[in-house]
Amino acid sequence: MVAIDGPAGSGKSSVSKASARELGFDYQDTGAAYRALAWFALASGVDPHDSAMVVGLLEGFGYAIGTDPDDYFVRVGDTDVSDAIREPRVSAAVSAIARVPEVRHYLVALFRSIIADTDRPGIVVEGRDITTVVAPDAAVRILLTADEEVRMARRSAELSGHSAEAVGEQLASRDRQDSRVVDFLNAAEGVTTIDSTHLDFDQTVSAVVELVRLRTA
Ligand code: CDP
Repeated sequence: MVAIDGPAGSGKSSVSKASARELGFDYQDTGAAYRALAWFALASGVDPHDSAMVVGLLEGFGYAIGTDPDDYFVRVGDTDVSDAIREPRVSAAVSAIARVPEVRHYLVALFRSIIADTDRPGIVVEGRDITTVVAPDAAVRILLTADEEVRMARRSAELSGHSAEAVGEQLASRDRQDSRVVDFLNAAEGVTTIDSTHLDFDQTVSAVVELVRLRTA
């Protein structure tokens, strides 16, 4: 298994998905689960800052994610939320629910069961705490980083229609809040840092795929 951590806008999701495709592996986006729970709280009229109410939502969460890199979807119950969970109102709510210990505990168990269920030769799992908490014993552990300006520019290009400044501010604030919960800016022991500041998308995917092939040869 390949564990990839990194801050917002580092290219984790797109690079992980493309690397999984090239390796013939499954792919798990763990941020989608935190985002889906934040979406579910908003849809249920629950204040994302009300931890007890958020924990109360876990039982009826009904979360499903596609792990085939060519068939990605995120569902809550019968609702496809693949696009809705990227909306800025969800991004703004997600850190509040991600810092609740019961939420993390519940989702980490869910991530591990999805990892155990893969029927491919491997799975690329990406998030904030995969190399340290979810799968510290993964065969390959990577921290994908990039300079802050580059990350902001990439993210605002993804979210067309939103001003670069607003996107940048939201991303920096989310990183600040998230880094109080998990240190995803410094590589833990045994974790290889791939800095994509000066790499384009294909070069970053190649760096990941080469490292995986080297480590698992
Ligand atoms: O791709 P981006 O960094 O924008 O975020 P994401 O991976 O979609 O994750 C969204 C949010 O979920 C993060 O801001 C964290 O608050 C939380 N998260 C987490 O706490 N642990 C993870 N393993 C993944 C995401």
